[in-house]
Amino acid sequence: MCSFTVPPAVLQLFLLLFLASPATACTEQEKRNLLQFLAGLSSDGGLATSWCNNGADCCEWEGISCNGDGAVTGVSLESKGLEGPISPFLTNLTSLLHINLSHNSLSGGLPAELMFSRSIIVLDVSFSRLNGPLPELPSLVTTDRPLQVLNISSNQFGSEFPSATWKVMKNLIALNTSNNSFSGHIPSSLCVSSPSLALLDLSYNQLSGDIPNTLGNCSKLKVLKAGNNHLSGILPVEIFHATSLEYLSFPNNGGLQGELDGAHIVKLSSLLILDLGGNSFSGAIPESIGQLRRLEELHLGSNNMSGELPSTMSNCTNLKTIDLKINNLTGDLGKQFDCTAVVSQPFPW
Ligand SMILES: *[C@@H]1O[C@H](CO)[C@@H](O)[C@H](O)[C@H]1NC(C)=O
Ligand SMILES: *[C@@H]1O[C@H](CO)[C@@H](O)[C@H](O)[C@H]1NC(C)=O
Ligand SMILES: *[C@@H]1O[C@H](CO)[C@@H](O)[C@H](O)[C@H]1NC(C)=O
Ligand SMILES: *[C@@H]1O[C@H](CO)[C@@H](O)[C@H](O)[C@H]1NC(C)=O
Ligand SMILES: *[C@@H]1O[C@H](CO)[C@@H](O)[C@H](O)[C@H]1NC(C)=O
Ligand SMILES: *[C@@H]1O[C@H](CO)[C@@H](O)[C@H](O)[C@H]1NC(C)=O
Ligand SMILES: *[C@@H]1O[C@H](CO)[C@@H](O)[C@H](O)[C@H]1NC(C)=O
Ligand SMILES: *[C@@H]1O[C@H](CO)[C@@H](O)[C@H](O)[C@H]1NC(C)=O
Ligand SMILES: *[C@@H]1O[C@H](CO)[C@@H](O)[C@H](O)[C@H]1NC(C)=O
Repeated sequence: MCSFTVPPAVLQLFLLLFLASPATACTEQEKRNLLQFLAGLSSDGGLATSWCNNGADCCEWEGISCNGDGAVTGVSLESKGLEGPISPFLTNLTSLLHINLSHNSLSGGLPAELMFSRSIIVLDVSFSRLNGPLPELPSLVTTDRPLQVLNISSNQFGSEFPSATWKVMKNLIALNTSNNSFSGHIPSSLCVSSPSLALLDLSYNQLSGDIPNTLGNCSKLKVLKAGNNHLSGILPVEIFHATSLEYLSFPNNGGLQGELDGAHIVKLSSLLILDLGGNSFSGAIPESIGQLRRLEELHLGSNNMSGELPSTMSNCTNLKTIDLKINNLTGDLGKQFDCTAVVSQPFPW
């Protein structure tokens, strides 16, 4: 028995080293799936060489992380010059939590198995060349999915914006689909099915129709951006129930109209940025705007607003940017502000 001769301190050190030793090497199956993913690419930007040189344990490979059981939990291969399709073999990695494939030149569609994965929490495929429609809800998928962050922005996705898909996305916190070519409507189910949504960016697409009043059911919503689409109708009053909003932005839809209701706008007391420029809003800037103390940017340019600038605006002491150009407003900003307000048009308006 050697334990008698080993001083306790050394034994402790030994145990410590043993416990802290590298986690289990990746399983053969996980490794096979990663190599199949690699083989599916038309260009790997040197990744095959890198993985080869990193030895047999795929948990040690560039961009790969594993849990203690040798199962792959993370694939972080952003800006690696990857081209070609996202192989469905990636979806065989059943412990995957995080995928980041942003800033590559991947093409083809987003495999439905990734979006509706039972494990993936973060899926970022932004800034690539993915195209086709975003997968609609497969009929076999009936239970909630863990996905919290979906960033498919700055790709070439198109067709109708999916609606049923969100029904199983109870855990969604951030959804960025901006800078694609989606058509159709903003789904009215979105905030009802994903009540935790804090960030929703639908800007730079071809969405049309009304702004659904159910967006007001997103009580956690901080960022709502849907500018540069073809939306029409009014800002539904329910939007003002989303009182966590800090960033409300619907510019350059052309067709949005109606008046800014003073009684409603004050409910958004956390608002930092209000951007409704490039639409057909009319009426006056409400007096109550002065109660939005945190407001930093106000963009109402290129609308059909009229009347006098409310003196209360001087109470928006954090206001740094004011764009009111191309309207029919009167008044003197200089009287109300000591700060340097940026008005992109010479006076008077
Ligand atoms: C892995 O994925 C491929 C392609 O989706 C599939 O054909 C295969 O059956 C899956 N399962 C295993 C264990 O490799
Ligand atoms: C993915 O990687 C890019 C580049 O490193 C990073 O900017 C981005 O935040 C990452 N995405 C997520 C969801 O963490
Ligand atoms: C994609 O969006 C997520 C959520 O907003 C964000 O954390 C991530 O940084 C974005 N990715 C890139 C490459 O900007
Ligand atoms: C969404 O992604 C785009 C890039 O594709 C980025 O410019 C934008 O800031 C993101 N939106 C939010 C709210 O983070
Ligand atoms: C839109 O996507 C294209 C292609 O990915 C990219 O070059 C451009 O910078 C993106 N624009 C914004 C505003 O993010
Ligand atoms: C959505 O919000 C409205 C109030 O704006 C409320 O009456 C309705 O019950 C909410 N719906 C859900 C499903 O939470
Ligand atoms: C502009 O607003 C005025 C009322 O202020 C209204 O009479 C007129 O119809 C509006 N014009 C357009 C194009 O919406
Ligand atoms: C500006 O705020 C002060 C309190 O901070 C208040 O007394 C005053 O009435 C406000 N002025 C306007 C024009 O709303
Ligand atoms: C601007 O408003 C004034 C009165 O406030 C009105 O006489 C004039 O017709 C309006 N001009 C336009 C282009 O709406």
